[in-house]
Amino acid sequence: MGKAARTGGDAAWSRIRGAGRRAWVGVVIAAACAFHGVVGAGQLTAVQASPVAPPGSASSGLQVLHWWTSSSERKAANLLAARLAGEGVQWQDAAIPGGAGIGAGKVLKGRVLAGDAPEVTQIIGVSVAEWGEMGLLLELDNAAGADNWNSFLFPTVQNLITYRKHTLAAPLGIHRVNTLFYNRALFARLKLAPPRTWNEFDAAAARLQALGVQPLAQSSEPWQVATLFENLVLAESGPEFYRELFVRRSPQAAADPRTARALQRLRIVKGWANGAPAERSWTEVVRRFARGEAGMMIMGDWAKAELGEHRMVLDQDYGCAGAPGSGQYHLYSVDTLSMFAGDYRHVQAQEKMARLLLSASTQADFNVLKGGVPVRRDADPGRMDSCARASWTIFGKGAAVQAPSMVHRMAVDEASRDAIIAEVHRYFIDDRAPVAVAQRRLAALFRLFNLTSQGAPGAQNTDRGR
Ligand code: BGC
Repeated sequence: MGKAARTGGDAAWSRIRGAGRRAWVGVVIAAACAFHGVVGAGQLTAVQASPVAPPGSASSGLQVLHWWTSSSERKAANLLAARLAGEGVQWQDAAIPGGAGIGAGKVLKGRVLAGDAPEVTQIIGVSVAEWGEMGLLLELDNAAGADNWNSFLFPTVQNLITYRKHTLAAPLGIHRVNTLFYNRALFARLKLAPPRTWNEFDAAAARLQALGVQPLAQSSEPWQVATLFENLVLAESGPEFYRELFVRRSPQAAADPRTARALQRLRIVKGWANGAPAERSWTEVVRRFARGEAGMMIMGDWAKAELGEHRMVLDQDYGCAGAPGSGQYHLYSVDTLSMFAGDYRHVQAQEKMARLLLSASTQADFNVLKGGVPVRRDADPGRMDSCARASWTIFGKGAAVQAPSMVHRMAVDEASRDAIIAEVHRYFIDDRAPVAVAQRRLAALFRLFNLTSQGAPGAQNTDRGR
């Protein structure tokens, strides 16, 4: 095993590392958050500056930047912190609120620019390769080699964490973004089965509406709208076309009738969500569903963990199924933590952490609290609930049934993702916006992206080797 290193040499790092950098941290975080409106006064978890150790000496405190701030997410993060403490490594929390890491991504950039990268950070999907390309991430090849990650990781996960043959992230869990949650009492009362197609969904929605219950809990927050849209594209066309649209970003795919139908369907579904849903956080959407204010909800399975916080019991109070039209597919988001190399003072602790995160017991326990499933092919399905078992089994069928979530950075780089989300949101908000115009605007965006890049490094184009 070679010595720990980072992709690209020290040049990139020394360009951004500066003296007195810690003084800037608070300013940068506060400015980034205020600018992007992600954090209200007092909401930001204090970032504890670790005592500055002389270069070269080992340090066992690791600052971890992440966006797990809901009550269930906190419990899952606390489990990691406790396990880490058991190994003599202190987890210094730097949590940034904002679903899907919209705020965290921006804060991370600000901090790195200020020369104050955290030792560990939640960056997921294509972002791993984006940061890897800058040469800032610690190669975790020693940890991966020592425990032979290759032998048990799902190939898609393996792909996500590998860049230029180096392991640049430690994977924690897989979320299924095409999950339908339904209220069992309401469905029993109406003698409804969970809808398997969007037509069945309409029929169930009409019955709920007639009962005076809002059919679908949905927010108009841009990333949540785009999540619904990617679900609709997958249902309409399957994973192959989905990748044409979101991974290869083909202008022809944007103009395709299948995209038109997904956009039309988005408008119909908006009608089932009260016509003009407010911009609610995902936790608020979950709360409303838990209170019985809506009969169904489509969200990543992190919502399952949060439903537990509202004392909702799976298979009793609510059911979990694949979203309509996509029951045999897996729209995934894989959570990963990467490490910044810095001056290598933290390597020992960072490698220890990476190995701990991948251990069979951490994977099993963390994912029970988090709502996802282990990244390991050898995980024990006996430790999973019915929802998790279905997710893990379908994901295990491989690339043909998998679709990388665009919203959760699995398909495209961050800038392209933000632009696509904004476009879909613009269409969603304005009921008079013609479908054809939305398609043309998406096609124009794709042409622009394809001019500036030949596809994002690390994009989950499962048809292509890396
Ligand atoms: C992450 C999840 C998280 C969710 C909501 C996703 O991008 O993969 O871990 O719970 O966002 O913030």
